[in-house]
Amino acid sequence: MKGSKKRTIGSHQLRPESLMMSYGYDPFLSEGAIKPPIFQTSTFVFRSAEDGKRFFEVAYGLREREPDEALGLIYSRINNPNLEILEDRLALWDEAERALVFSTGMAAISTTVLALCRPGDVIAYTAPAYGGTEYLFDRILPRYGVRAHALPAGLAEAEFKAALGELAKEAGERGGRLAMVYVETPANPTNELTDIAGLAELLKGFGPERPVLAVDNTFLGPLWQKPLSLGADLVLYSLTKYVGGHSDLIAGAALGSAELIARVAEMRTICGTVSDAHTAWLLLRSLETLQIRMERSAESAKKIVAWLESHPKVERVLVPGGKGCSERQREIYARQCLGAGSTLGVLLKGGEKDAFRVLNRLQLFKLAVSLGGTESLVSHPSSTTHSDYTPQTKARFGIAENLIRLSVGVENADDLIADLEHALGED
Ligand SMILES: Cc1ncc(COP(=O)(O)O)c(C=O)c1O
Repeated sequence: MKGSKKRTIGSHQLRPESLMMSYGYDPFLSEGAIKPPIFQTSTFVFRSAEDGKRFFEVAYGLREREPDEALGLIYSRINNPNLEILEDRLALWDEAERALVFSTGMAAISTTVLALCRPGDVIAYTAPAYGGTEYLFDRILPRYGVRAHALPAGLAEAEFKAALGELAKEAGERGGRLAMVYVETPANPTNELTDIAGLAELLKGFGPERPVLAVDNTFLGPLWQKPLSLGADLVLYSLTKYVGGHSDLIAGAALGSAELIARVAEMRTICGTVSDAHTAWLLLRSLETLQIRMERSAESAKKIVAWLESHPKVERVLVPGGKGCSERQREIYARQCLGAGSTLGVLLKGGEKDAFRVLNRLQLFKLAVSLGGTESLVSHPSSTTHSDYTPQTKARFGIAENLIRLSVGVENADDLIADLEHALGED
């Protein structure tokens, strides 16, 4: 099943977009099929009892894997060919040593946190973060003795330093550690950026037992932001969004060093939060067009932003490093991002009623939560994804009633502008 992992032609280094069609798959081990078949099977037959024994020794960590030894196929909660090809290909985009794919983005996040935290530990996270993540951190983890503290996205370095120092002290008093700094950047839906390299540098001061720096890269990754190259330890994804890209599947991923990912893999095997062969196959299909989809959406988003910024009914467009951002935000953008992506916040003039009028009049932009699909979507964070925030928290994190969020798809940009023009216009 496994095929070549060659990444060069002569001395020429191949890019991920070229490797998405072939990397790690040998057609001649599957009757010449150009695409990997779907291995819709729960279990795998061992050639011998000795093989079964050897495979389990590795799977259960009873011995180290030999340098060139692949983990034999055992059972689809542990491994599956579609999943393995997908993980090998996904790792290329972020230049990670290893990737793991999960049944959902939340499965990736919760399994990672369970693997790396223990009772007494403290997590610091940037807010606003995805609602499911905040729910896990604020309401579920305390039941297991892990405390999480929200720090506003985009905090200045000195403020981060002071806050993290306090949290490390608190953790010490509870007999735990500041185990993780969890960053979602850009923040949803404000597009406020947090400085990944700055935080990585700061955490070096915590010594060898330093907290793991985990970055949810769902909004800009893997094309427009590469957290591992900026010093993060782990990258997390909701693959449901840009990577899946067609709004037809749910999945997640965690990527990082082989050592860290092995700890997360153990938890995934036992919690059973792995993805299935069919979803993995769909994701392999999606990876083939990832770059052209993300580029097309970003190009259209740029055009739409320019158009919206000159519209009389628009107060401000929230784009990473965009117009109206602080000097510091623009500086982080220049160092950290390779593009602004295609998920935008739009502050309309007026209040909720005016925002709802626009939402109800849009036709190509479909009114739904989620983002990163081929179709354009629009949502109203204040009354949906962030509706459980108190008015004070909404005000603190900029979740205004006149804020709508657009996810720009791959439709014709002029058609999307025509849709917005009609929705913003008079009857
Ligand atoms: C930034 C971010 N992270 C994580 C998730 C959770 O992913 P999933 O819905 O695939 O579980 C989402 C979902 O919207 C998200 O937007």
